[in-house]
Amino acid sequence: MQKMWRYMVALLLFIVADCHPHNGFIGTSFEVIIHNENQTELSFKRKWNASQSNQPPLNIDKRFNYMVVSDERQRLMPTDVDRNKGQVLGYKEAVLLTNPTNPDLKGEVDDKYFYSNDDKDGKVYGWISTTNPPLGFWMINPSNEYRIGGPLKQDLTTHVGPTVLTVFCSTHYAGEDLAIKFQQEEAWKKVIGPVFVYLNSNAAAKANPSILWNDAKKRMNQEVASWPYEFALSKDYIKSNQRGTVRGQLFVNDRQVFFTYEIILNMFISKQNVAASNAYIGLGPPGEAGSWQRENKVRNGATIWEIGIPDRTAAEFFIPNPPSQFKVHKYKNNSESKFRQYGLWEQYGVLYPKNDLVYNVGTSNYSKDWFYAQVTRKIGNKTYEGTSWKVIFNLANVNIGSNYTLQLALAAAHEADLHVHVNDEKIQEPHFSTGHIGGSNAIARHGIHGLYWLYSIGIQGKLLVKGTNTIFLVQSSGLSPFEGVMYDYIRFEGPHQ
Ligand SMILES: *[C@@H]1O[C@H](CO)[C@@H](O)[C@H](O)[C@H]1NC(C)=O
Ligand SMILES: *[C@@H]1O[C@H](CO)[C@@H](O)[C@H](O)[C@H]1NC(C)=O
Ligand SMILES: *[C@@H]1O[C@H](CO)[C@@H](O)[C@H](O)[C@H]1NC(C)=O
Ligand SMILES: *[C@@H]1O[C@H](CO)[C@@H](O)[C@H](O)[C@H]1NC(C)=O
Ligand SMILES: *[C@@H]1O[C@H](CO)[C@@H](O)[C@H](O)[C@H]1NC(C)=O
Ligand SMILES: *[C@@H]1O[C@H](CO)[C@@H](O)[C@H](O)[C@H]1NC(C)=O
Repeated sequence: MQKMWRYMVALLLFIVADCHPHNGFIGTSFEVIIHNENQTELSFKRKWNASQSNQPPLNIDKRFNYMVVSDERQRLMPTDVDRNKGQVLGYKEAVLLTNPTNPDLKGEVDDKYFYSNDDKDGKVYGWISTTNPPLGFWMINPSNEYRIGGPLKQDLTTHVGPTVLTVFCSTHYAGEDLAIKFQQEEAWKKVIGPVFVYLNSNAAAKANPSILWNDAKKRMNQEVASWPYEFALSKDYIKSNQRGTVRGQLFVNDRQVFFTYEIILNMFISKQNVAASNAYIGLGPPGEAGSWQRENKVRNGATIWEIGIPDRTAAEFFIPNPPSQFKVHKYKNNSESKFRQYGLWEQYGVLYPKNDLVYNVGTSNYSKDWFYAQVTRKIGNKTYEGTSWKVIFNLANVNIGSNYTLQLALAAAHEADLHVHVNDEKIQEPHFSTGHIGGSNAIARHGIHGLYWLYSIGIQGKLLVKGTNTIFLVQSSGLSPFEGVMYDYIRFEGPHQ
């Protein structure tokens, strides 16, 4: 128990030292709330002091070398020294390992954002020391209730150091929209955690680190089942006997078409309720509803065509291999890390050196022909330009007196300005403009989504023609390689009914 206590303190400082904003927190006073053979609860307090140093006063003995983020993403890691000897790429977090201690890693890029997770998938991760005896050090987040942004919020988990984080609030993959803003003198209080730190050991793990990982996952499931914890003594912490329960069933009733998370069944006229089996259900306070309410797709008319899957990510689109000078780390299974690679944005200009992407409804296939992000194109060495994509489709007839709808769902936006033109790219005024949107940095951070944006764009029938029509998607902002949008899903709907 004494040993565990020290680990907890060290970890706590670890966490806070890497917390955003990156200046560290050091408790200036602490109090033992309870300490017995079963439990220790400490209270660290600090009043803000502008002149305090940035460094946590810790000596740390680092021995962990094998990192696990998921079943797939687990590996021997480079070290801080390897990074220091490497070459910094397009931003300081991405380093090309030019002379690592472990020669197998030479040519790989190290970037802590490779190891990000959606919060829903980030319930356990950590490190294994393969020295004797093999030891696992795990962060278990048994609940997401105290983290901002919902189940699809992404954040850092573990990275070179060895570093273990549990990030409660950050603007990562979201931007300023998720920064907590305060009015002058506004009082605010929030209980964060508790999180669970788990240490395990097994002699056989030297040859097979998965033994410790599988045990940690088992422990995670146990901790999830015992949430909310009863032991925390802080009066601000809401225990299970102070919480209510809501029970019920959620069905979807869509008179035109129904779809589930993965399967789209078009042209299916349903009078029956359909179980919303892949939905997330959340409870919010009365009044202003959260961003989830924007996902209120009332369908205006029958689907004429669609591109992608409405799941808030761009994972179903074409994801290129990274530039050949960067070695791809070989995991046991590389499917989960397809998009977590450095430099994918540069591949757009390689595939489309002069002419931008053209998508022909009917003959194109979004898995192959729709690049996962509408990024900028590099011209010369340092300049970038916006890009203009075309969606070409055929209409057998047009009801010129009716209104059609373009449902445009973005999985991410970064410093973008997306204009929509209908059949006329040249006219100055776009049919629709998003305005300047997004600060998720999801392109540079290898997220396959950031914050979600939904636009329902009305298109009058008189703007369409019988025969070939073109919708132009013009991302006009072109200042950096990381600007642009990721599409989630696009649907063109027939006349209102
Ligand atoms: C510690 O836990 C044991 C086993 O549950 C229990 O018998 C004991 O009373 C506990 N000690 C304290 C101080 O709560
Ligand atoms: C603030 O920090 C400075 C530098 O560490 C220290 O000299 C000073 O006493 C601190 N002030 C308070 C109120 O703790
Ligand atoms: C690889 O990962 C994918 C996605 O998680 C999974 O469906 C597949 O079964 C895995 N393949 C192997 C060989 O583990
Ligand atoms: C689209 O491309 C993917 C990936 O190559 C392929 O698996 C799928 O069958 C294609 N779909 C159609 C309708 O051709
Ligand atoms: C681009 O950079 C290369 C290598 O640094 C240099 O040789 C070339 O002149 C540059 N081209 C332009 C157009 O600036
Ligand atoms: C179509 O949309 C326009 C512009 O929003 C509106 O003025 C018009 O009434 C709509 N027409 C129909 C038939 O709904």
